[in-house]
Amino acid sequence: MTNPPPSLATPYRTHTCGALRASDAGSPARLAGWVHRRRDHGQLIFIDLRDRHGLTQVVIDATDAPEAHEIASRARSEFVLTVAGEVVRRLPGTENPRLPTGEIELRASDVTILNEAKTPPFYINDPDAPIDETLRLRYRYLDIRREAMQQRLLLRSRLVQAIREVHHASGFVEVETPNLIKSTPEGARDFIVPSRLQPGAVYALPQSPQQLKQLLMVAGVDRYFQIARCFRDEDLRGDRQPEFTQLDLEMSFVDEATVMDFVERMAIEVSRAVVPERPILATLFPRFTFAEAMERFGSDKPDLRFGMELVDLAPELAGTDGAAASGFRVFDEVLAAGGRVKAISVPGLGAAPRSRIDELTETAKRFGAKGLAHLSVEAEGAVKGPIVKFLGDDLAERLVARAEANPGDLVLIVADTADVTNDVLGRLRAELGTRLALADPNVLAYGWVHRFPMYQWDTENGRWDATHNPFSGVVPEDEALLTTTSGDPAAPAPGDPAGRARAMQYDIVLNGWELGGGSVRIWRRDLLERSFALQGYSLERMRSMFGAILDAFEYGAPPHGGIALGIDRWAALLTNQATIREVMAFPKTQSGSDPMLEAPSEPDPGQYAELGLRFVGIPGKPPAAPDG
Ligand code: AMO
Ligand code: AMP
Repeated sequence: MTNPPPSLATPYRTHTCGALRASDAGSPARLAGWVHRRRDHGQLIFIDLRDRHGLTQVVIDATDAPEAHEIASRARSEFVLTVAGEVVRRLPGTENPRLPTGEIELRASDVTILNEAKTPPFYINDPDAPIDETLRLRYRYLDIRREAMQQRLLLRSRLVQAIREVHHASGFVEVETPNLIKSTPEGARDFIVPSRLQPGAVYALPQSPQQLKQLLMVAGVDRYFQIARCFRDEDLRGDRQPEFTQLDLEMSFVDEATVMDFVERMAIEVSRAVVPERPILATLFPRFTFAEAMERFGSDKPDLRFGMELVDLAPELAGTDGAAASGFRVFDEVLAAGGRVKAISVPGLGAAPRSRIDELTETAKRFGAKGLAHLSVEAEGAVKGPIVKFLGDDLAERLVARAEANPGDLVLIVADTADVTNDVLGRLRAELGTRLALADPNVLAYGWVHRFPMYQWDTENGRWDATHNPFSGVVPEDEALLTTTSGDPAAPAPGDPAGRARAMQYDIVLNGWELGGGSVRIWRRDLLERSFALQGYSLERMRSMFGAILDAFEYGAPPHGGIALGIDRWAALLTNQATIREVMAFPKTQSGSDPMLEAPSEPDPGQYAELGLRFVGIPGKPPAAPDG
């Protein structure tokens, strides 16, 4: 159901620049906007007037309107005008079918310059002109005037609207949680805010509303969501900003399937509302355990739009006695040491020249491999490659068949520990998928990766580190594993059963990106304390960091779970952008600065004094010069 377009008339305009149609011909109209382009033909001046809604051609004729003509002759690109006149049909042959307003023009009788503009530092009316990104960020208000940025911000606005609609229709309550809180660890550093009323004390900005949303479940809110701003002081990348937005949600009396089913339905409804033209690959999102995702894709955020899965070659390499006897020393040694030999089959690269193979080998080494073996399947099906002389033709052909390679394909093989083999082949798969354009850019391929290990061993600190967030629950059948070999949870060691425990943790992936992550939580205090002990928290530290939630768990915490999806990432994926900066109105640069506002900047000395602060500097680290 679409509502009729709202009237956007104001004292400066009767219509927007995108509204007039042939049916308006003969009527008076007044428009307001920016000069997109001006063409001066002496007697006639044409001005394309632009606002967010569109573009209308305005014609000023010196004979009909000498005063308006004189004013129009002074207008330049990006001047702000209001123009009144009569809507007329364009002469046959001069219509512009690419513009919704292309059948008409406004014959101006009155032109007023509301404001002048300096020549912009880049073209606003040329969508293809390359512009340095720092310049774009420095003049973001001009950058956002550009059509492509406008479209992306509009899409983001529709995304948030659709999210709100689905949640309200599904019994969720939108609750705002504060930004001045206490540290909520999500694996990054906190941004801290000194308190004036309590000198010497600081607030932390939330890395996420995690603890507060769990407290809302204890409070009986039942289903909560929020479009939440989060702050994380970490190294920036294309998909990471220090300040970003989550769709954060939490539900009571749920198991993993309840949350995943809701999120799946929500994601489909939202995608259909926002990008109805983009097909969703599978409306039952495929679910992979973490172990399966690593085995098949070498990644916990696989791009599911193309195959090229990792294949285990070991069964073909075993000799009759079961021991590896392929004839190729590297493979046999790795298998004998308990490692893995796996392959991907790259379509169409079978005839790749030596230089291309060398380059792929270098890439694999950069990813951590010791080497990269290959078998080329020639167009007629013959298998070639430097390792064929060790393997023999028969085994080489069986390996190629096992990798499901077709004539013309290239089989890339890595032999190493399981972790290295999967990681390197997973990264090669992702890189080659992009380079060979294997993924349909139009398709949305959502999926789930779940059952992550609860912990990974932190060698440096001698403790179990939560792989996701410290509140994730354990898969019920693994609850007994939340212990140490010695039985004392406060004395963790690398061989502990806890290392095998799987978390009720799920990540939602989209087109090769991690879109969101969540879990069913630990909701019993005894289990939470045990889990925290394994993570190396003393009772005092637990109390000081998570006292509120530990207390709350003694007052009737319901079973609960939830998830958070990165809205910036979602918007970037829905608009096929390589970085989330393209879908944020005012993002930071890679070094965390805002070249427009020139933030961060030195505080006012008066502010230091009030807060009882003195900057002493960091030895060996001069204060960074703001970039841009
Ligand atoms: P997590 O830390 O996995 O989970 O974050 C959830 C999602 O937030 C997005 N995201 C980011 N986006 C842009 N810039 C960043 N620096 C950034 N960091 C994270 C990602 C990510 O998948 N409290 C838990 C959620 C839960 O368990 O319910 C949490 O924050 O899209
Ligand atoms: P080498 O015996 O080290 O000269 O290696 C012979 C071939 O095997 C080269 O193409 C190497 O890149 C490749 N190779 C070496 N180590 C590995 C490995 N761990 N996994 C896969 N291929 C390897």
